[in-house]
Amino acid sequence: MAYLLVLVFFLAALTHSTPKEYSQQGEGAILDSLKQQVGLLTNETKNYSPQVQPPGTNRRIPQSIIIGVRKGGTRALLEMLDIHPEIVVATTEVHFFDWDENYAKGLEWYKNLMPFSYENQITVEKTPGYFTSSLSPERIHEMNSSIKLLLILRDPTERVISDYTQVYYNRLENHKPVQVIEEIVIRNGALNTKYKAIQRSLYDVHMENWLKYFSLDQIHIVDGDTLITDPLPELQKVEKFLNLRPRIMSSNFYFNQTKGFYCIRSDGRERCLHESKGRPHPMVNSTVLEQLQAYFKDHNQNFYRMVNRSFDWH
Ligand code: A3P
Repeated sequence: MAYLLVLVFFLAALTHSTPKEYSQQGEGAILDSLKQQVGLLTNETKNYSPQVQPPGTNRRIPQSIIIGVRKGGTRALLEMLDIHPEIVVATTEVHFFDWDENYAKGLEWYKNLMPFSYENQITVEKTPGYFTSSLSPERIHEMNSSIKLLLILRDPTERVISDYTQVYYNRLENHKPVQVIEEIVIRNGALNTKYKAIQRSLYDVHMENWLKYFSLDQIHIVDGDTLITDPLPELQKVEKFLNLRPRIMSSNFYFNQTKGFYCIRSDGRERCLHESKGRPHPMVNSTVLEQLQAYFKDHNQNFYRMVNRSFDWH
């Protein structure tokens, strides 16, 4: 009991340092170890929103939101941006603007889910569902018409396969029946364009909604395919977009052969994304792949015109 009390005391004392301060001082590891001992942390969680408000900090509505796209690399982008000392992130997906029941709870509710930050820090939230939600652009605009939006996209066909893979594993875990991807993507010999994963990859359709409310210079597009192979340049572009001093460096990343992805080195600690990120994809029948790519072709061209930029999508 006495041991527990001492631990709780230590936790309270350390939590009083700022969200970034403790990690800059290398205390993050000590804090995590203590939290682990009292069962507050799983081994994959780095962030937490301290209940005790560090002096000089406040919870603020985000000045930047990662709006999507689902399976685009949104978690990797958020975690990598969190390396920056002037960025604080909301670790859980809030679903404020895309879920009516949350939106009805009001802006105070939303703000209370944000981490504590100093005035010079930028709060970033990510909810990938915003990009494909028709209500989100207007609602976000109403909250802050000059907000900076981050949109991470990857090859639309790859995104469909990634989306399928995520649902496949979720269903397996919940003991639900699964189907091979070809059975879902092709119905009666034709492409099943009603399949949600395909709909979500129609970037031009969704982008049109956003451009009704925001100018192009308010939406920075991160190349999700490049973020996988070479994260630093993509992050440097985000630093510029957010008017932040360049603080993220190549030494913040190392390639993990076992995972097959870049992992993060920050504040003297190394961590990879959760095992649900970067799962192997199934082999997809080549005819089905070509059908998907052909379907997305015009949509992609339309998207390139909309954003005055092209991508290496098939
Ligand atoms: P896969 O799991 O299909 O490979 P999101 O976080 O939006 O759900 O995106 C998940 C995708 O992020 C993963 O899709 C993976 O390809 C990509 N990703 C990008 N950088 C990554 C990294 N460093 N580690 C793991 N996954 C990464």
